Amino acid sequence: MNAPQQALPGSKAALPTLGLREFWYPALLSKKVGKKPVPIKMLGEEIAFFRDDGKVYALYNRCPHRGLPLSCGRREFPGTLTCLYHGWTFNTAGECVAALNEGPQSSIPGRVKVRSYPTAEINGVIFVYMGNKEPRPLEEDIPEELMTTSNIVHTHIEEWNCSWMPALENLQDSHDIFVHRRSLFYLFRKLPSWATVGVSLTDDGRGVDIRYDKMGPAQAEYETVGKYPRQVWWRRFKINSPRPGQYPKTELRLPGVVRIGFSDLMYVRWAVPVDADHVRAFLFTSRHATGLNGFVYRLYYAFIASWIFLRFFIGQDKIVFEKQDYSAPERLSQTDTGVIRWRRLVAEAARQEAGDDAIEAKFGAGQLVNG
Ligand code: FES
Repeated sequence: MNAPQQALPGSKAALPTLGLREFWYPALLSKKVGKKPVPIKMLGEEIAFFRDDGKVYALYNRCPHRGLPLSCGRREFPGTLTCLYHGWTFNTAGECVAALNEGPQSSIPGRVKVRSYPTAEINGVIFVYMGNKEPRPLEEDIPEELMTTSNIVHTHIEEWNCSWMPALENLQDSHDIFVHRRSLFYLFRKLPSWATVGVSLTDDGRGVDIRYDKMGPAQAEYETVGKYPRQVWWRRFKINSPRPGQYPKTELRLPGVVRIGFSDLMYVRWAVPVDADHVRAFLFTSRHATGLNGFVYRLYYAFIASWIFLRFFIGQDKIVFEKQDYSAPERLSQTDTGVIRWRRLVAEAARQEAGDDAIEAKFGAGQLVNG
């Protein structure tokens, strides 16, 4: 069930549980794909990736004969993948070119096809396009900091037990000054006690910019509960203390990408739906650094940043959104403005895709098989 339900714009019911289709998505690391096929589930669909003559190909991972995953198959001949069960053999475009169990006179070749997907390899990551239309240019979907080969791009992949939406909405509110206050990342920083959120649509209409527009003092006084947060001596040192206007800018982009810009480093979280209850998170960091700077940065990433930021900081996020009941009724407030605007954007894109599919269903959309 991927079609958006009829619902008020911005409500959770209007969101596609298996994500938007007409976009490029990261699938897996280049180094994971060799001659042996690799199965990956994404957007609720199984895909077999394999490499031939250096290029990566992707086929729907079900043999149209009797349903064996093609990822169990072998590369018997160059440029093909042969099903393990009866030997039906498919070229890289997904066309059956031989049915080895039926012999050279078989009538199957030329009449059976399995869906193939366009792929691209960029900075050690394989991207795939699973939409029904012609894929749009890569640079429209993939952030520039992941495209440039002059940057040092690190890719860390995690699988989380939640839908793709809470994994993204997590980065659109002011939870960080509450959830992460005790993280190593903020250990010495004097954070604002509270913050409100400002939102605007990006110029191209395909994203939402989110920023803190008002920030409270380091400690606030509540008539009901007293002072918060408790002041501790080590936060007196304003080491890297964020100040108003200096908080990293956050941008959410379709189909499910968050970009956060630190001074000379971009953090990108790309949430790829696996199924309705699981998401594969690609956590990218990209920075331009060469020579000695590049060497030092690689050491910093390997021994400090990847642990403090990826393991502990994002580990705190994971705890909350994996426990969040996303189906529960909500009482949204000012700091959820980014969540509301983002949901509207996704719902609009989903309605657009559903409308296009309906038109194609009525007037014909080609000869896709098993797609
Ligand atoms: Fe694949 Fe029979 S199931 S060839």
